[in-house]
Amino acid sequence: MNRHLLSAADLDRDNALLVLDTATQLAALTDRAVKKLPTLRGRTVVNLFFEDSTRTRISFEAAAKRLSADVINFAAKGSSVSKGESLKDTALTLEAMGADAVVIRHSASGAAHRLAHSGWIGGSVINAGDGTHEHPTQALLDAYTMRHHLAGGTGDLSGRRVTIVGDVLHSRVARSNVLLLTTLGAEVTLVAPPTLLPVGVEQWPCETTYDLDSVLATTDAIMMLRVNRERMNAQYFPSAREYSRRYGLDVKRMNQLPEHSIVMHPGPMNRGVEIANDVADSARSVIVEQVTNGVNVRMAVLYLLLGGAQLGAGSELDTPDPAAAVLTEATR
Ligand code: CP
Repeated sequence: MNRHLLSAADLDRDNALLVLDTATQLAALTDRAVKKLPTLRGRTVVNLFFEDSTRTRISFEAAAKRLSADVINFAAKGSSVSKGESLKDTALTLEAMGADAVVIRHSASGAAHRLAHSGWIGGSVINAGDGTHEHPTQALLDAYTMRHHLAGGTGDLSGRRVTIVGDVLHSRVARSNVLLLTTLGAEVTLVAPPTLLPVGVEQWPCETTYDLDSVLATTDAIMMLRVNRERMNAQYFPSAREYSRRYGLDVKRMNQLPEHSIVMHPGPMNRGVEIANDVADSARSVIVEQVTNGVNVRMAVLYLLLGGAQLGAGSELDTPDPAAAVLTEATR
């Protein structure tokens, strides 16, 4: 593993599978009375959030705490950023406090890369979403969820067909998913109106179409993207109703999917726009499960970036606990 996780492209197939397999092993912690490992005791993880988040921020906090790290939560609102403090000075302040890892979400594409390669921070940088660019841990938790449902948990996603629908233009989730899923051998199709596909999408390693109905019957997993109204500075479609009619997933469309296929959404959802209530709450929906899996995957990322290299025979993880023993063996 690299020191940082900035893009899904940082992960080759072996490293992506290492994160997913480690997350599977760490999931065993959920069945223990004490859901904690001592791996990151004495290490400090800073959650540096310049943009709103529910799932990502909370799950990184839960993940770090389950690995016994000290966690500092920083939100731009209520900090000296609102007085005009720069990213550099904020980063230097965190470095002075001894941050071993910084999890950053920022509205500017490239902010995580800047933090990682500026020399301001000595520890690992994890991109928790930068503008319309990337959200690699979301892609990892999505792949983990697909593996669980479509490949028996630890199997292969090769040849599985994933359809990603909606506002690709403003989506960091779409780009990271296309990169990771193709690394894992899946076949990805993007579906969107022409106005919501980015310039250069033809160079992405995936298919594109404007016609959602034409791909439903061959889809193993369908991922509905949020219409990112807060990032839109123009009219990209005539109305929410028209968008929903052409690109929304309703029960009629869901029923055209193969029986085994799953419905995904990274959240937060615009219910009634890109996804109907009945679909979001249906038995095929794995949206809540995606959130649960996010904790395991983020534990795996922190574990491998900060602690994994130190593990081995005689370490804190080499204990009789079944989950810990499995992890020790896997990282030896
Ligand atoms: N999927 C996702 O990034 O959700 P949050 O914005 O709530 O973190």
